[in-house]
Amino acid sequence: MYKYIIKGGKPLYGEVEISGAKNAAVAIIPAALLVDGVCRIENIPQISDVTMLLNILKRMGASIRTVDRHTMDIDCSGVTSTNADFDMMRRIRASYYLIGALLGRFGSATVAMPGGCNFGGVRPIDQHVKGFEAMGATVDVRNGLVVAKAPEGGLRGSEIYLDVVSVGATINLMLAAVFAQGTTVIENVAKEPHIVDVANFLNSMGADIRGAGTNVIKVRGVKRLQGGFYSIIPDQIEAGTYMAAVAGTGGRLLIKNVIPKHMNCISGKLEEMGVTIEEGEDCLLVKRDRPLRRTNVKTQPYPGFPTDMQPQLSTILCLAQGTSIVTEGVWENRYKYVDELLKMGANVRVDGRIAIIEGVEQLTGAPLKAYDLRAGAAMVIAGLCASGVTEIEGVEYIERGYEEIIEKLRRVGADIEAVDIREPDDEKDIERIG
Ligand code: UD1
Repeated sequence: MYKYIIKGGKPLYGEVEISGAKNAAVAIIPAALLVDGVCRIENIPQISDVTMLLNILKRMGASIRTVDRHTMDIDCSGVTSTNADFDMMRRIRASYYLIGALLGRFGSATVAMPGGCNFGGVRPIDQHVKGFEAMGATVDVRNGLVVAKAPEGGLRGSEIYLDVVSVGATINLMLAAVFAQGTTVIENVAKEPHIVDVANFLNSMGADIRGAGTNVIKVRGVKRLQGGFYSIIPDQIEAGTYMAAVAGTGGRLLIKNVIPKHMNCISGKLEEMGVTIEEGEDCLLVKRDRPLRRTNVKTQPYPGFPTDMQPQLSTILCLAQGTSIVTEGVWENRYKYVDELLKMGANVRVDGRIAIIEGVEQLTGAPLKAYDLRAGAAMVIAGLCASGVTEIEGVEYIERGYEEIIEKLRRVGADIEAVDIREPDDEKDIERIG
């Protein structure tokens, strides 16, 4: 248990190296269950959600070898269990990808309902269930467990139309369809870069998936996937978070290891706000040397502005000249963090899915809480921009998704440190979890 202490008001200068994409890694690791042989996966981010998933696979019988800090050899040939009812499952959203992967490989899955960040209630999985059922599976959700079973003879290719554009359902159905008989057509799918990355991973191991990145994905069932190499794409949201940070503090950051095209939805908004962005082949130079201007933004599935950047952008809009309107188009309740910004002197009014932000001259440091991963990142940005000292509790949320955030920020001039606030008794809890 740590808290972060930030002495704000310092512009950021230097270079930040972006890690592998969390949202791709947390899907590709369970996808390795479908592969018969060793998958060497590069550019795996060192974050707690990944550690947790690797531990879950290990418990199920996978062999995992660390090649270097960001490269692992994952071999799931030895997995025989179809049961993943572990306590740790309930802590991460991505645990639900084990349903599709286990169902695809073994024809049955018993998996604890997913946890992760909650934006007002339980995360629905009705679209996942609808898709599995269309492939002939029976799915029972009760007592916090999802129990899925393929029909005699295995899952059958089918036509599935998603009623809502869901990243989770798109990936989960792709996983289940890899070995299904015939062709599965999934319509109205999400198009996020990490969906394309999961499809590329599976295809590089022998799957036949077409259309990832468009509205319709077609999966032709194959008999077997075999081991191979894969390198995960850079993290769009981590990159966006550092871009928002330098937009807020002022200064100049070279953001390295990015795919600039994936950043367009974020870069465009920051440019509207008066931030200068120069694009290189795999990097972005981000500068802010004049006052921030207001803008309006609505979060939407990719290629729209990502919901995972909404708290970070809203935070810097608190310091922009004029009135900005933010509309959350994906989640019903993703403004809990606004109360924290109010403690710093921000002027924000939330009405349902809309936040009306009146820019103020300055934020002032305050004791804050991170309520979820991206809200936590927004609190860090707020602390970096504010005058005085900001203390942030609940930082374990932030470490679920940001590799070495303290080190990366310190290297570019931020005054931020992590202070251990564990009581002696907490040590026991940590051993038990590990
Ligand atoms: C969503 C975001 C993703 C982000 C993640 C974590 C989108 C489309 N997805 O992905 O970019 O990384 O949150 O913040 O922007 N839904 C249903 N039934 C389902 C599944 C989803 O109604 O079976 C609804 C959800 O309540 C939500 C929307 O669909 O309103 C998007 O959900 P989904 O994309 O599945 O969520 P994540 O995969 O968590």
